[in-house]
Amino acid sequence: MASLPHILPAVAYTSAAQHERDVAALRRGWHCVGTGQDYAQLHDYRTFDVMGTGVIVHRTPAGLRAFVNACAHRHTALTLAAQGHREHLQCQYHGWEYDAVGVACRIPDAACFMPFKYGDFRLEALRVEALGDLQFITLDPDCQPLAASLPTEIVSRIARAFSPTRKQILSLSINHPCTWKIPIENVLEDYHVAMLHQHFVARHPRLFKFFKGRPPVGEERYELQAGYTSVKDELGGDSALYRRAINWVRSGAEPAFIHTHVFPNLLLGDSGVVGFFQQVFPVSESTSRSLVRMTMDVPARGGALGDLALHAVKRLARLLFDQLMREDGRVFPAVQHGKRSTSDDGRLSSAERRIHAFHCWLQNRGLLSPDSNG
Ligand code: FES
Ligand SMILES: [Fe+2]
Repeated sequence: MASLPHILPAVAYTSAAQHERDVAALRRGWHCVGTGQDYAQLHDYRTFDVMGTGVIVHRTPAGLRAFVNACAHRHTALTLAAQGHREHLQCQYHGWEYDAVGVACRIPDAACFMPFKYGDFRLEALRVEALGDLQFITLDPDCQPLAASLPTEIVSRIARAFSPTRKQILSLSINHPCTWKIPIENVLEDYHVAMLHQHFVARHPRLFKFFKGRPPVGEERYELQAGYTSVKDELGGDSALYRRAINWVRSGAEPAFIHTHVFPNLLLGDSGVVGFFQQVFPVSESTSRSLVRMTMDVPARGGALGDLALHAVKRLARLLFDQLMREDGRVFPAVQHGKRSTSDDGRLSSAERRIHAFHCWLQNRGLLSPDSNG
């Protein structure tokens, strides 16, 4: 297969106009605020900055509720703590408290605000929907339902990889010193692996041989669809030991690995017993943030051995993930720097076809700002 054009000009990664265009488009979608397991106890809460809007998500007796993180009194963020636990969310400034539906239920010296009745003062509520154990909010009251906003195949892939019966083994928020498209494009090709991950590969040759660079027998390696692209790897499928281990965790589990990019900013991995999710959010024209979660099937008959294995897998997942992120992340500011400096078009190899598909999608959706369209 021949080389491909690099459709996005360098300015599409650097300009303030493109950043504003990206944020305007991405804000209209669904944004992950973690898994149900992140809100393990009733009254647990977490806060997020979703492309400039403060959001607070609270586990109430009626399930997860989300609000704009701005007090109805004088708009102070109730709290900027990343997470906490309170029956009634309380504003840090004058102490207003809010009940499970976001209505002010305790106001110090309330007589000074008379007349008012219950319900007059409330937090702005946001829609929350779940897919498997993944929890999402939207800032757009008219956004179509979460499942309808995704390709049907993706809904079932997420439901399988993030089934609530799976245990969470990794929960991270990562700040990237580059625009959001750079970490996404990085995982859409394995061309960089030999160069960037040479220390990793050198130290873990057995592990890395697991990735065969070929799809399971009878399947295509790449899948380029209208709303997403995937790459499939047979992983340890030809190893009897690996198949036995996978089957011990969940009988009948597929040993292959499938990595999916759902346009524009969702990444999904599924190895049959381990699920990976990442959503990359623009923060500024040269910074971004990722929310990352990993889950794993736990054998029902695991007992103490299962607990031990889960603990070991959690530690290993964190170790490997940190190392991979460090190795990849090292080059991100250099990519941003180069994009800022050049007016060259760039080019893509046939092995980078998923990046090309991403560029086509952005262009066809009219998501390139006028300066990026040339
Ligand atoms: S601003 Fe929140 S209580 Fe005054
Ligand atoms: Fe990498």
